[in-house]
Amino acid sequence: MSDKLLYALARPLLFSLDAETAHNLTLPALRRAASLGLTRACSKPAPDPRTVMGIVFPNPVGLAAGLDKDGAYIDGLAALGFGFIEVGTVTPRAQPGNAKPRMFRLPAANAIINRMGFNNGGVDAFVANVQRSRYYQEGGVLGLNIGKNADTPIERAADDYLACLEKVYPYATYVTVNISSPNTKNLRQLQGASELDALLSQLKDAQSRLADRHKRYVPITLKIAPDIDGDQIREIAGALLRHKIDGVIATNTTLSRTAVQGMPHGEEAGGLSGAPVFELSNAVVAGLKRELGDAIPIIGVGGIMKGEDARAKMDAGAQLVQLYSGLIYRGPALVRECASAIRR
Ligand code: FNR
Repeated sequence: MSDKLLYALARPLLFSLDAETAHNLTLPALRRAASLGLTRACSKPAPDPRTVMGIVFPNPVGLAAGLDKDGAYIDGLAALGFGFIEVGTVTPRAQPGNAKPRMFRLPAANAIINRMGFNNGGVDAFVANVQRSRYYQEGGVLGLNIGKNADTPIERAADDYLACLEKVYPYATYVTVNISSPNTKNLRQLQGASELDALLSQLKDAQSRLADRHKRYVPITLKIAPDIDGDQIREIAGALLRHKIDGVIATNTTLSRTAVQGMPHGEEAGGLSGAPVFELSNAVVAGLKRELGDAIPIIGVGGIMKGEDARAKMDAGAQLVQLYSGLIYRGPALVRECASAIRR
C-alpha cells in the first residue's frame, strides 16, 4: 500500500482524536511498521546531496525538532526519506512538560498550537536512544536539539546548554541550541544582545574543548523565533558572525494569533506553527540572508505545507529546509514533494 493511501485512510481517525493522543499512537505504529520492513514501500526522494556546515546531507529536506523529543523513534522517521533528522529538544533532567491538553490542531488554518513545555526523559535517556538507533549507527545525519529545564533560573541557562552539549556532542552530526521556544518561561530573553553574546561565547569555548577531546568538530546551529523585528535580526546575525556559529535555524513557532482569530482553539496559549507562520519565517530567513550572505548557512523551517513552499524557503535564502506541521496535515508524501520541488 502506498504511503499516500495509508495516510489518507489513517488521517480521519487520527484527526478524530486529541492531537497528542494521535501523536502517541502514530509514532509507535511507525516504528513497528519500519521494524517489520513495511515502510520499504515508501518511495524515498532521489539522492540530492548538499554540503552544508561541512556535512553532506543526502537530500535537503529534514525533520524539524519537537516531533521526537526523546529520540525514541528515529528509525521509523528515517524510513520517511528525510535527508536529516533533528530530535529533541532535550533538557539535562527529565521533566513532564505542561499540563494536558497542550497540543491543538486548527485544521481550518492548517496550523497547530502547542505548549508542550519540553516534556522529555532527560539527556541520558536521549543519548541512549540515539545510540540504539540504526540510523545513527549507519551514519545518518542527526541534529540533536538542546534546551534548558523549566526550573533552572534563566540566569543559569548556560549551565543547562553546556551540560547537554557535553553529553550529546559525541553522537551528533550537528547540535541545535534552541533559545526560541515560547513555552519555557523567559527562554526567548536569551535572544537579547548581551544574553546571546554570553551564551554563544561559552558554547564556542565548549565546542572547541569538545572538538579536541573527541577529535571531531561538530557544528552548532542556533534556532530562533519568528517574532523578531529587523533590528533584532541584525543583532542576532551580528552575534552569529562574531562568534562564528556554524548555522542558524529559522524559525520556531510564533506567538502571533492574527491568522487564527476566532477559530476553535485559536486563543490557546503556546506557539503557533503551520501555514500561519510561513510568511513570518520567510521574512526572518530573508532578513538573515541579507545580513549573513554566504557566511553562515540558514536552515529554513515554518509553514512548509507543499513543494512550492519549500522552493520559496530556498529562494528566501535557506540552504536546507525542515518540516513538522506539514507532515501532520499532508502526511509523509510531503517529504518527496518538497525534495522534488527543490531538486537541483
Ligand atoms: C515544535 N517545535 C519545536 N522546536 C524545537 O526546537 N524544539 C521543540 O521541542 C519543539 N517542539 C514542538 C512541538 C510541536 C507540537 C510543534 C508543532 C512544534 C517547532 C518546530 O520544530 C518548527 O520550528 C515549527 O513548528 C515551525 O515549523 P512547521 O511546524 O510550521 O513546519
